[in-house]
Amino acid sequence: MLDPADVRIVLGGTPEPFTSATDEKRAALGHFEPHNALVTRGAERTIRRRLNEEALETAHPVHSHVDGFRTIVREETTALTTEAAGSGELDWDAFSQAWFRVVRRVVLGNAARDDHALTDLMARLRGRANWAFAMPKDRRARDELHRRLQAHVDRAEPGSLAARVAGQPEAAFATHQMAQWLFAFDPAGMTTFRALALIVSNDDALARAEAEISAGGPDPAFLKACALETLRLFPTTPAILRQTTTAASLRAGRLPGDAGVLVYAPFFHRMSGLPDADRFAPVRWQGRDAEELLPFVPFSAGAAVCPAKHLVPLLVAEALRELLSRHRYAVLAPGWLAQAPRLRGTLNNYAIRLTLHPIPRRT
Ligand code: HEM
Repeated sequence: MLDPADVRIVLGGTPEPFTSATDEKRAALGHFEPHNALVTRGAERTIRRRLNEEALETAHPVHSHVDGFRTIVREETTALTTEAAGSGELDWDAFSQAWFRVVRRVVLGNAARDDHALTDLMARLRGRANWAFAMPKDRRARDELHRRLQAHVDRAEPGSLAARVAGQPEAAFATHQMAQWLFAFDPAGMTTFRALALIVSNDDALARAEAEISAGGPDPAFLKACALETLRLFPTTPAILRQTTTAASLRAGRLPGDAGVLVYAPFFHRMSGLPDADRFAPVRWQGRDAEELLPFVPFSAGAAVCPAKHLVPLLVAEALRELLSRHRYAVLAPGWLAQAPRLRGTLNNYAIRLTLHPIPRRT
């Protein structure tokens, strides 16, 4: 797609005639979640989509578990920064360990906090999934993943997302939806760490963030906007794929049935002529939903929009609030972040390193 008007037609025309269940995605996700909504066509998609929307509360800007999620984020970020303050440095390895503790507690419950084996199993299956058609499926490992997830659904720990799917019809394939949740929280962690580095390298953003944090209101609107702006600059789903189920018309022309469609998000997110295309300017999102600035598509749009489009910015914002409220940071790497007037096209989250110092408490 090269025309924003066609992006609207394609995303608005999902699931018919533009299905999200493309051959490539079915081959990739088939390695660990073949019954996920994203790769389901027809009537079954409605049932699986509904489970996602209900558990993730897509229709509500603030998830009803927010208080529990805040506590989890506070406990894990406090443990993280206490440890990192010893060396005075925060890197991806330390951050991601803490982030996955948050994810396991939010999705599966507190008892799963230290279930690293589950995260490792997911990582192994995702590694195979990257090879899509070219790698045989490890069905034994896939069955093991779903057995472990089902055990958490059966525990149904109050306050966890797993508890929200207990008792759903079999056709909803709850554990296949949950596998996507665990997988997709990984880019949310990348976004949090990138956003932290972007905020502390930008005087205006840092001043606004600090003002919001010290005001202490319940809705961290600016920090949520920082999450969306980070995803605009560095989208973690750069390729949104569709496949036509029948012939379809676009402004650019007519497509036959079974044609592949690619919405390459970075092309639209940094289009020439766009104000501040290569700068971190979160205010453009403030008070706006992720779908309101099409053709920016950080969470896609339409019937297959990410059902966590509110939950992710909320959790990222709460993590940023906690991290920024107790420490000051400076970026050690990458060096270009603080100096370049225009941001580069990619930001390697694995290579970000920050210094941190506790903020002296006022007496
Ligand atoms: C930075 C974090 C995330 C980003 C940028 C993101 C982005 C996206 C995008 C762009 C899609 C749509 C793909 C398409 O239109 O083909 C999508 C789908 C989906 N996302 Fe997310 N997502 C994130 C995190 C999450 C999380 C944490 C969850 C669950 C807790 C989640 C659950 C889903 C599900 C279930 C779908 C499939 C929806 C459907 O087929 O109807 N995502 N996500």
